[in-house]
Amino acid sequence: MYVCNCNGIREREVRAAIDAGATRPADIFKACDSRPQCARCVCEMRDMIDESRETLRFAAE
Ligand code: FES
Repeated sequence: MYVCNCNGIREREVRAAIDAGATRPADIFKACDSRPQCARCVCEMRDMIDESRETLRFAAE
């Protein structure tokens, strides 16, 4: 499934970028060697970053 249609960035690529340390959508674009265009995907990227943080927080408890 694509998260960013403008750049063809898939969900697994976003997750890989987050796992590699991306903490902002800008980091994800950089990891995917692309730039935001319409920016419609930014909210979904933020949600995925937040979900990842929540998962780590629960794992640490
Ligand atoms: S959908 Fe990602 S920049 Fe347009």
